[in-house]
Amino acid sequence: MTTFILDGALHTASDQCPETTVLEYLRETLHRTGTKEGCASGDCGACTVVLGEETEGNKLRYRSINACITLLGTIHGKQLLTIENLACGGNLHICQQAMIDEHGSQCGFCTPGIVMSLFAHSKSGADQGRNALLHSLSGNLCRCTGYKPILSAGSLVNMHSGGDHFDSLELEVLKELRAIQPLDSAEDADGREFKICTDIAEVATALERSPQARLVAGSTDYSLEITQGLATPELLISVGRVKEMNTCEAVSGGLRIGAAATLTEATPLLLQHWPSLEELLLRFGSPQIRNQATIGGNVANASPVGDTPPVLLALDATVELRKGVATRTLPIREFFNSYKKTALESGEFIVSIFIPFNHNDATVRAYKVTKRFEDDISAVCMVAHWSKVNNRFADVRVAFGGMAEIPSRGKACESVLEGSSFDLQTIDRAALALSEDFSPIDDLRASATYRKRLAGNLLRRAFLAETCPDSELRVTEYG
Ligand SMILES: Cc1cc2nc3c(=O)[nH]c(=O)nc-3n(C[C@H](O)[C@H](O)[C@H](O)COP(=O)(O)OP(=O)(O)OC[C@H]3O[C@@H](n4cnc5c(N)ncnc54)[C@H](O)[C@@H]3O)c2cc1C
Ligand code: FES
Ligand code: FES
Repeated sequence: MTTFILDGALHTASDQCPETTVLEYLRETLHRTGTKEGCASGDCGACTVVLGEETEGNKLRYRSINACITLLGTIHGKQLLTIENLACGGNLHICQQAMIDEHGSQCGFCTPGIVMSLFAHSKSGADQGRNALLHSLSGNLCRCTGYKPILSAGSLVNMHSGGDHFDSLELEVLKELRAIQPLDSAEDADGREFKICTDIAEVATALERSPQARLVAGSTDYSLEITQGLATPELLISVGRVKEMNTCEAVSGGLRIGAAATLTEATPLLLQHWPSLEELLLRFGSPQIRNQATIGGNVANASPVGDTPPVLLALDATVELRKGVATRTLPIREFFNSYKKTALESGEFIVSIFIPFNHNDATVRAYKVTKRFEDDISAVCMVAHWSKVNNRFADVRVAFGGMAEIPSRGKACESVLEGSSFDLQTIDRAALALSEDFSPIDDLRASATYRKRLAGNLLRRAFLAETCPDSELRVTEYG
């Protein structure tokens, strides 16, 4: 039975199928319809709700998620806040009032989700400037109001410094959260099970016993199989609470990122060491997606357009795998076999990812090109790593997403660069060699011709960003 805090009290959901989503439970079981369903695939933000959980510093932390792709079992032991919770004592919450004052709502379908994103933004404690606001709202679409009044409402929220009634309830909520007993597993009436592991050995044993079971981390990929009616799993094994798979830390010679660490959790440490990854990591989905999506899930999903695989290929990462009690490590370049097929054996899973530190003088550049700037999947993603030694390219690794059926390095391109003189002529030759490496396809995100031209131009851009650092390489103003 999944237990969480709703409306300030413990709430227990029993007899739910493993694939029940939070949105389905709210709307279909509780008939609590303030939270809307737009796309049912994590794209529009209409279903945004906020989860409260205790941090290591004994504080409450609020994060926005997409209820449509969050499995109910994963919110056990958390506080669930929906739009119905914001007003208090007959007064609207500042995030609601600001939307009214600034005329930020017309049809209103997107509005509850936008208000919940504003609420999470107001509670994030981060920089409350305009850029932070744009990031916080980047997972919410509105098709009638236009974003200007919504951003004005966000600015009003930014200016508010008075706190809200949630602040005074924090200690009480923490006490209630601590009283919830851990849950091993929840079963539905047909015996289909949602197993929540807290220990890595438990995951290994469960998967070894039932290799047909489905592992689930943030469920941002897996839930799409559910909402599209393709999946009715007998056994789901959730790894989101396995400590060893959640920890991100610097270890000897590099970073160890737990496979179940979310993008939100892993990003600060990654940026400490590779600040040039900032744009790529902050354009991964939306805040709601990054609060759930894990790096292990991104790698295991093996999408040709996933964003972390090119990063990990360019940084020469290794993956730590486990099956039963046996563990092995594999260079990430040997992990992807063919379209969405990996080197994982039946019953095997990813425990962590190790990323070695660069040599001091290495350059890393990462670019993601999409049709829409925010919350979109890459048409092409390129991550380049090289050093300049005696005015020649060295330690070259150039990895792409969106150019082949798997994320992969451009070997012909790399061999032109490696050891050659550090100039634009070499880059031009390497860009030409990309046609030996890749035969991309036409699809809804880009044509093959566009992808080919783009890949070469991204390589040039990486070089120019290093050699002409003061020139503006992005169009930011039009007209
Ligand atoms: C709206 C939206 C926007 C998105 N934007 C982006 C984007 O910008 N860039 C991008 O790259 N992706 C994007 N994605 C895809 C998705 O969010 C990522 O691939 C995410 O990292 C998957 O992680 P997860 O924890 O949610 O995986 P899950 O959905 O839980 O799992 C995905 C798959 O991996 C397997 N798996 C999970 N963890 C492990 C493990 N430790 N070992 C072995 N197998 C495992 C699961 O069994 C499943 O098959 C987006 C998705 C949505 C819905
Ligand atoms: S309904 Fe669109 S993101 Fe959930
Ligand atoms: S107010 Fe109609 S979609 Fe936003």
